[in-house]
Amino acid sequence: MLQDRFQRVHDYLRISLTDSCNFRCTYCMPEENIQCMPNAHLMQPDEIETIAKIFVSLGVKKIRLTGGEPMVRKEFAEIVERLAKLPVELTLTTNGVLVHQYLGLFKKAGIRSLNVSLDSLKQETFFKLTKRDKFQQVWDNIELLLKHDFRIKINVVALNGIIENELLDFVKITKELPLHVRFIEFMPFAGNLWDSSKVLTAQKMLDMVKEEFDVVKLKDEPHATAKKYKAIGHEGTFAFITTMSEHFCGSCNRMRITADGKMKNCLFGKEEMDLLGTLRAGKEIEPLIRLSLYNKHAALGGQFSPDYQKAEADKIENRSMIKIGG
Ligand code: GTP
Ligand code: 5AD
Ligand code: SF4
Repeated sequence: MLQDRFQRVHDYLRISLTDSCNFRCTYCMPEENIQCMPNAHLMQPDEIETIAKIFVSLGVKKIRLTGGEPMVRKEFAEIVERLAKLPVELTLTTNGVLVHQYLGLFKKAGIRSLNVSLDSLKQETFFKLTKRDKFQQVWDNIELLLKHDFRIKINVVALNGIIENELLDFVKITKELPLHVRFIEFMPFAGNLWDSSKVLTAQKMLDMVKEEFDVVKLKDEPHATAKKYKAIGHEGTFAFITTMSEHFCGSCNRMRITADGKMKNCLFGKEEMDLLGTLRAGKEIEPLIRLSLYNKHAALGGQFSPDYQKAEADKIENRSMIKIGG
């Protein structure tokens, strides 16, 4: 079992497969520097399997693949096939644009749920945010997944000044469709030009939704990042990921490995343990995993105050989101 000093059991591992992406969302990657890691620095499929197996032997029950965009990794299918053999719930977070190419693979691998990032329901705004004219492809793929009974969470980064125009539309689509929309408070990472004025808090969003819909609070999943609601009579749900206004670190069960094989004990943790380098040197990685967890802070990587208005983004030492994997 992997437990930290605060008695939090860690059984959920997020593995980033690549730091490259076929979209260009500015909130995720620093504009001036889109240098990708060379392939030799990335964990190779057999190394990912070896590392994942060690985590599973230590109690990991769920693995989420992330990126960048995980499906642009050349060896994506091989990696999924290898991990599908492990006794874990396997899932991924994606921008959705390549889903149609891998539907068969997902089914064969027993993947039943996907989290799809979609920040706008309007083609033009989608293009402005992602720099790619792919709204229709993503939407078609969401419908394809629904048709094949996948459970889908839609991740919407709630950018102040943009999301207000679409908040209600996102809730509206949950009327007929069994989608689970999650509005994510904008978080600070290297190069993403965060400041507190760009954060629209969950409370403000909820107030806006309540003006239009009758809403009930639902029970949240254990260790959930999101606080879940439903508009009465709707098929789907909506939720808020409140990292900035009300963090949920007390029930954290997450560990991360970056595409270059460094373990991060927290999304905002600056400490990294070089699992890949250690593995390649023929040494054991379990002691490093335990040490990483021992060093885990109570909340937010110990990097900023829970009062988001005081978070000083410039002082946070961390990677950009695209190099962490979310
Ligand atoms: P589930 O496994 O379905 O609960 O998904 P998830 O919310 O863990 O993962 P996803 O990759 O869909 O991430 C959605 C948003 O939640 C992203 O903005 C992530 O950065 C954020 N997020 C995911 N895990 C954590 C976490 O441990 N801490 C914080 N603060 N945010 C997280
Ligand atoms: N704040 C909040 N969410 C973010 N994501 C990427 N960058 C940020 C940020 N700065 C989201 C993506 C994706 C998920 C993994 O993280 O939209 O859905
Ligand atoms: Fe866990 Fe860090 Fe996320 Fe808090 S910010 S929930 S401690 S990963």
